[in-house]
Amino acid sequence: MPNPSILILPGDGIGPEVMTEVRKIIGWFGEKRDISFDVSEDLVGGAAYDKHGVPLADETMAKAQEADAVLLGAVGGPKYDDLDFSVKPERGLLRLRKEMDLYSNLRPAQCFDALADFSSLKKDIVAGLDIMIVRELTSGVYFGEPRGIFEEGNERVGINTQRYTESEIERAARSAFELAMRRGKKVCSMEKANVMESGILWREVVTRVAADYPEVELSHMYADNGAMQLVRAPKQFDVILTDNLFGDILSDCAAMLTGSLGMLPSASLGAPMENGRPKALYEPVHGSAPDITGQGKANPIACVLSFAMALRYSFDLGAEADRLEAAVEKVLADGVRTADLLASEGVSPVSTSEMGDAIVAALNASL
Ligand code: NAD
Ligand code: IPM
Ligand code: MN
Repeated sequence: MPNPSILILPGDGIGPEVMTEVRKIIGWFGEKRDISFDVSEDLVGGAAYDKHGVPLADETMAKAQEADAVLLGAVGGPKYDDLDFSVKPERGLLRLRKEMDLYSNLRPAQCFDALADFSSLKKDIVAGLDIMIVRELTSGVYFGEPRGIFEEGNERVGINTQRYTESEIERAARSAFELAMRRGKKVCSMEKANVMESGILWREVVTRVAADYPEVELSHMYADNGAMQLVRAPKQFDVILTDNLFGDILSDCAAMLTGSLGMLPSASLGAPMENGRPKALYEPVHGSAPDITGQGKANPIACVLSFAMALRYSFDLGAEADRLEAAVEKVLADGVRTADLLASEGVSPVSTSEMGDAIVAALNASL
């Protein structure tokens, strides 16, 4: 059997910086656990634009379709802000998600004990937090037609369309219920059925899917209230199911419950392939962080934990994913902190690469 394949797309800004640390960890698994991958690398985002004039070359798209898993760093940055919309770095990422049909985006927000003091919320509100946001990723207002900027009389109009079919809602909902069955058996679905027809349909379809999961308790919440509840009492949630745009916003919000945007990993999953595994792309929730690029300040944990999700969801290596997550937890418990995680002055932060080394050391200690 050939080794499973991973396509690495480091991208822009801090993307390549955090990915360097993930490569160390992939190397560790090969060397110490005899778990090897065929790793190849390519360009996405601004880096691809600089070389090819497009944010994702067709050959790269084809490689992503073939890979057992794709790992992506981040895309975008001020250098590309004035590019035509069609070739903006973010379009490369959106093309990957759409063409790989990665409809279920898992964004887990866990508060590690060592960071409970550091969250911008009070410790007792976040300590022990473990929620999973399931964000629909291939439809909604991100992709709905009509869209564009048009002339209308003597001015222009910008249009995006929120559009959801029943089957799109249903498959995202099923993935949320399946996850809930393996977790706390609660799903809270968030939309705005009070003002949007797509929200009314969303609520109806999710309620219908819930009938197939009688053990799971389903609740519905308007997404604005959901944002408020996430900072008021986040531990009331187990799985949150929501659409593409609300999920984007709510997951950044959830990130701060864990201490930093630099902590939140994600898995974007599609339907199972012939080998039974889902098409998959793993990436940190954060962006390219232009304000800290090139300074060795980026926290690589979100990207490292995204690789842990790959071990779990693409490679059936749940125990090794647990090992990696435990190594991250140990490093944090030992007080190792990148700058984004430093609450008090007088403690010196470690660099991106020192954080990666500390995680590798903790992995060694786990043997
Ligand atoms: P961002 O996530 O890049 O940064 C927001 C803030 O969080 C910044 O202050 C940044 O320094 C900090 N931060 C983010 N990740 C961090 C990490 N790992 N360690 C330490 N601090 C971290 O969001 P933004 O500034 O709104 O966007 C910058 C660019 O990134 C834009 O072009 C945007 O479109 C893009 N973006 C890409 C992705 C992605 O590739 N998935 C996600 C979000 C934003
Ligand atoms: C994310 C990002 C992306 C999104 C952008 C970069 C396309 O914010 O993954 O959270 O809006 O989905
Ligand atoms: Mn986002």
